[in-house]
Amino acid sequence: MSNWVKLCSLQEAPAPGKVAEAEVEGVAVCLANVGGELSALDNWCPHRRGPLGQGWIERDCVVCPWHSWTFHVKTGEAEFPANERVETFPLRVEGEDVMIDIE
Ligand code: FES
Repeated sequence: MSNWVKLCSLQEAPAPGKVAEAEVEGVAVCLANVGGELSALDNWCPHRRGPLGQGWIERDCVVCPWHSWTFHVKTGEAEFPANERVETFPLRVEGEDVMIDIE
């Protein structure tokens, strides 16, 4: 099953090298832009629920603003520390809409 919903418009999406917070149907999302490509991750860091969407991009990772845990934007796998991960959401752009699957 899938449940594709509109997260935001392309205009509202972060610029390359930036992250932003967004919310849809009660799901808080970290929207990341690496090199012009968007990715969606769970906004809440698995460490102490820091807001990843208020963090920053380093290479192809998002860094948590609270204690710098670092997650790959595509896989959600942590570069630091090892063996941690954050959920990711499938994302696609339809026209001017950024869509994610929150199933
Ligand atoms: S809450 Fe994210 S690193 Fe601690």
